[in-house]
Amino acid sequence: MRPRSLFAAAGVLVAVGIGGTLIAQHQIAWGKEMAEIEQRTGGHIEAGPAAIRRLGCGTCHTIPGLPDAKGRVGPPLTRWAERTYIAGVMPNTAANLILWIRWPQGVLPRSGMPNLGASETESRDIAAYLLSLT
Ligand code: HEC
Repeated sequence: MRPRSLFAAAGVLVAVGIGGTLIAQHQIAWGKEMAEIEQRTGGHIEAGPAAIRRLGCGTCHTIPGLPDAKGRVGPPLTRWAERTYIAGVMPNTAANLILWIRWPQGVLPRSGMPNLGASETESRDIAAYLLSLT
């Protein structure tokens, strides 16, 4: 091999090494963030979609990651983690979101969102899923 191709080969190796490290670091950061969301909500992110389907949230809301959730009655729940307020009345914290999912009519009587009979576990799982949407 001539020196120039040796340099090129070394360059490729370094680039692959740096790329791999960056991807690994990103995955660790992402994993930590997801674990933190599950801790805050006491729910399981991966259980969210099934609960959302069971309760029919998608008939009224568009929800990312769920192709059958395309409703237009309520606001789209896209990038939910970046929202400041829930229905304009409560700060978007994990506890408030769980409360809203369980009992919207208690939080905001006459809201367009009915109580759907979500269980504690379902509310926590859905809250975890929504808070993972960025
Ligand atoms: C019958 C239609 C309907 C169903 C079913 C429904 N929602 Fe809603 N939802 C609404 C409406 C309408 C609003 C707007 C409420 C308001 O601002 O008064 C809303 C508001 C919300 C908000 C706050 C949105 C914002 O932009 O602040 C969240 C979060 C939410 N719904 C989640 C859910 C979840 C989770 C389910 C399933 C458990 C669900 N919704 C089922 C109609 C519905």
